[in-house]
Amino acid sequence: MEGIRGVVLAGGWGTRLMPLTTSINKHLLPVYDEPMICKSVSTLKRMGITEIMIVLGGHSGDSFFHLLGDGHRFGLDIRYAYQEKAGGIAEALRLTKDFVGGNNVAVILGDNVFQDSMRTYAEEFIADQDNECYLFLKDVENPESFGIAWLDENGSIVGMEEKPKRPDSNLAITGLYLYSSKVFDLIEHSIDVIGYSDRGELEITDINRFFMEKNLARGIRFDCHWADCGEIDALLETSNLMKSWGMGKWLVTEE
Ligand code: DAU
Repeated sequence: MEGIRGVVLAGGWGTRLMPLTTSINKHLLPVYDEPMICKSVSTLKRMGITEIMIVLGGHSGDSFFHLLGDGHRFGLDIRYAYQEKAGGIAEALRLTKDFVGGNNVAVILGDNVFQDSMRTYAEEFIADQDNECYLFLKDVENPESFGIAWLDENGSIVGMEEKPKRPDSNLAITGLYLYSSKVFDLIEHSIDVIGYSDRGELEITDINRFFMEKNLARGIRFDCHWADCGEIDALLETSNLMKSWGMGKWLVTEE
């Protein structure tokens, strides 16, 4: 798809999945029949995006190269960046600035799994003259574990917060974000005016809030199943669901 590049964020240390992640990078753990990262790379591919940068972190970089290489086996052009410390999602995204250039960017977290193709949203985004940020929202039972959004009666986003302690909204902001290249200016702005959070991260929710405050963010409540596999029960449940849906491997060799 013209005018949009893809970014998979696979940095961090996967501490919530220890000891599984002590010796295996979280994004290489199996989700049913494939390493987790294949699902997020496939989500971008299903959106029609072929130029992708994967931001790695932690250990096992060579295993990613072995699995995905330069992407040509899958009809993709894959490059890599490396995030030295787990300084947050926005910090990882910042590393892709030169790769994205003046294009739009679809960012997916390497532990997020979307059952269906989100391609129509990418097409809408490219044609959208009014918004420069699409956020994908889903009702959850444990809102304190996610970035959370508040909507007004018209469905517009009026507030958001990262992992609120006592949330009165259960609408999670999932780990797929569509941005214009303005996102990189807003990351620099966030470094200047907010900086790193108490947990030592440059928070993506702060960037999303800047888009909201400029009336440039659209929230989309979508229907298909979504999971954040960064937690053991979700990892297990998603694997079982995939088996029950009869969903085989997503990232297939095209050769
Ligand atoms: O899954 C959706 C949620 O993901 C959102 O609702 C939250 O707003 C967002 O902050 C994020 O929350 P998590 O606590 O689940 O993020 P986690 O630290 O598990 O990181 C998710 C992915 O982001 C991880 O698989 C790799 C990437 N990442 C994360 C960090 C902290 C990086 O590439 N670099 C990092 O420094």
